[in-house]
Amino acid sequence: MKTTLSVIKADIGSLAGHHVVHPDTIAAANKILAEAKRNNVISDYYITYVGDDLQLIMTHSRGELDTKVHETAWNAFKEAAKVAKDLGLYAAGQDLLSDSFSGNLRGMGPGIAEMEFEERPAEPVVIFMADKTEPGAYNLPLYKIFADPFNTAGLVIDPTMHEGYKFEVLDVYEGESIILNTPEESYDLLALIGTPSRYIVRRVYRKADNLQASVVSVERLNLIAGKYVGKDDPVMVVRAQHGLPALGEILEAFTVPYLVPGWMRGSHYGPLMPVSQKDARATRFDGPPRLVGLGFNIKNGKLVGPTDLFDDPAFDEVRRTAVIIADYIRKHGPFMPHRLEPQEMEYTTLPLVIEKLKNRFKKETDMYKTKPSVYSHESSHE
Ligand code: 13P
Ligand code: 13P
Ligand code: MG
Ligand code: MG
Ligand code: MG
Repeated sequence: MKTTLSVIKADIGSLAGHHVVHPDTIAAANKILAEAKRNNVISDYYITYVGDDLQLIMTHSRGELDTKVHETAWNAFKEAAKVAKDLGLYAAGQDLLSDSFSGNLRGMGPGIAEMEFEERPAEPVVIFMADKTEPGAYNLPLYKIFADPFNTAGLVIDPTMHEGYKFEVLDVYEGESIILNTPEESYDLLALIGTPSRYIVRRVYRKADNLQASVVSVERLNLIAGKYVGKDDPVMVVRAQHGLPALGEILEAFTVPYLVPGWMRGSHYGPLMPVSQKDARATRFDGPPRLVGLGFNIKNGKLVGPTDLFDDPAFDEVRRTAVIIADYIRKHGPFMPHRLEPQEMEYTTLPLVIEKLKNRFKKETDMYKTKPSVYSHESSHE
């Protein structure tokens, strides 16, 4: 029998700004999931939050994109959003972009990371949940975990990992995907995923037997809504051990608080700070972007755990470095490279401000004849 792990999340409104989920909204979601468990729609579940994002972690045997499971999640978010509205929480229903549910949650606002697999005798998984960033934020750590032997010792010394992994990359501008093999196509892979706003690693497979090792929620809210409605705040599942990276090799990828897009108004680069569940609350400049990692074992469809993986002094220096980086980059104020590049600012309210200045520009010179096209949607296909 196969087990499906579904991690589905949404921002349904939060306390005191884009800060933290209110416990009453968690209780509302819990009622719906408890009922779904009683009715055997799902086998087990765990509800948590990271910043203002409500996280539903569910197991079942219905496969990916299942209507009943997705409807359960939708109802949980709707009920939680009702409570958020009653309490006057900030941005109640923020990520619920559609009014009615039809079939599954794709394109409706919530982020979805689902994986169906045959349970191994021991099935350790890590669930990563971020606030104030976007799905491409996982590109760099996924590369380190599955393709960088300086991060993952097993790529060199474990014969079951030595053949490498396959990365499925989604071009979110074109809606196309490509599979690239590592180590032999590492440079091609990096050529794409080094532009994480466009090319997102969605799934990773072990090359030797196609066993799926990871999945990421690839929903980009601004590309779905056509405007800025909040950041995507993505989730990721990574299976560990037995021919997959060890737990510690997975966590090792987060020992550098590398810069990710998001943070204040979804418009600034900032350091991704791994935190404990207790510190999973956005504060300074609505951040810094935060990451929680929960470890579980899955047995006969049940969730055993969790353990709060970054609740550990081994990550204190990473957090300290993140604060130093935050101090430094904040000094840039409204300047790039703290503020995101224009292609990404297109979906914010900045173009409205620039539009107002349009008529005040006077033509000066013809010497600048070319415009950059590297980011245009067409260029990669010509
Ligand atoms: P244990 O001996 O603690 O199981 O560790 C094995 C291992 O490979 C750790 O990375
Ligand atoms: P969220 O996507 O977490 O709601 O963040 C929105 C925002 O604009 C924070 O400044
Ligand atoms: Mg919010
Ligand atoms: Mg959020
Ligand atoms: Mg968000």
